[in-house]
Amino acid sequence: MHLILIGAPGSGKGTQARRLVKTYGIVHISTGDMLREAVHSGSDLGVLVNTYISQGHLVPDTHVTTLVEERLDRGDLPNGFVIDGYPRTVGQIGEFDRIMKSRQRTLDAVLRIDVPAEVVINRLSDRRIDPETGRIYNLNLEGDHPDPDLEVRLVQRNDDRPEIIKQRLSTYNAETLPVIEQYREMGQLIEVNGARAPSLVFASIQRRLSSQTESQ
Ligand code: AP5
Repeated sequence: MHLILIGAPGSGKGTQARRLVKTYGIVHISTGDMLREAVHSGSDLGVLVNTYISQGHLVPDTHVTTLVEERLDRGDLPNGFVIDGYPRTVGQIGEFDRIMKSRQRTLDAVLRIDVPAEVVINRLSDRRIDPETGRIYNLNLEGDHPDPDLEVRLVQRNDDRPEIIKQRLSTYNAETLPVIEQYREMGQLIEVNGARAPSLVFASIQRRLSSQTESQ
């Protein structure tokens, strides 16, 4: 199975990707995580990437596409993958198509998680991440609050500051909404309402995926 997860910053792509991994045995590929790893490594690429991410701008297509190609060639994707954060510009659609075709892989669906801007702004301000497990928390979501001894080690992403969130949303509207439109026109888009509890969003994704499989 090969899926793209697309949606605004904070729409819940990472949260739903973890559930898809557990349920379908596929691998989560996150361009955001790969780029942050490059930043933490302190490499020349990481230093360059940080100048874009820290301001809420997109990293140039060529760098991200190279990372995606290298990731797909690692040989650990027997059941496929869910890619979260790519393609994110119209230019990346063509690159992704080329990458998939040249590796005899076929895209099954593009899952769009749709959440209003005011909801994602609150979510991103309340997001904390466990650096040891990668588990994502929403400090304001009932039942999602970590134990106090765990909470002390949680971190906030550098780009989850109010002024950068605003820029990320405007970049999303300008660069990524056209990607969604293109996949809609290609008949590959599955849209789910992401402004509900994570379990309800996931139930909806599962339903839509299984009805798509039945109709094929
Ligand atoms: P990336 O890491 O991909 O960030 P993003 O798209 O802004 O998305 P987020 O990771 O912020 O949010 P999410 O949708 O995964 O939500 P999450 O599940 O964490 O990219 C970062 C940067 O890298 C970009 O800005 C860009 O610079 C660069 N980049 C990446 N890909 C690129 C590309 N292809 N080209 C160029 N540049 C690229 O959830 C958010 C919060 O909400 C959490 O607290 C979570 O617990 C909570 N939550 C989730 N679901 C729910 C729910 N249903 N109800 C209540 N709370 C919820």
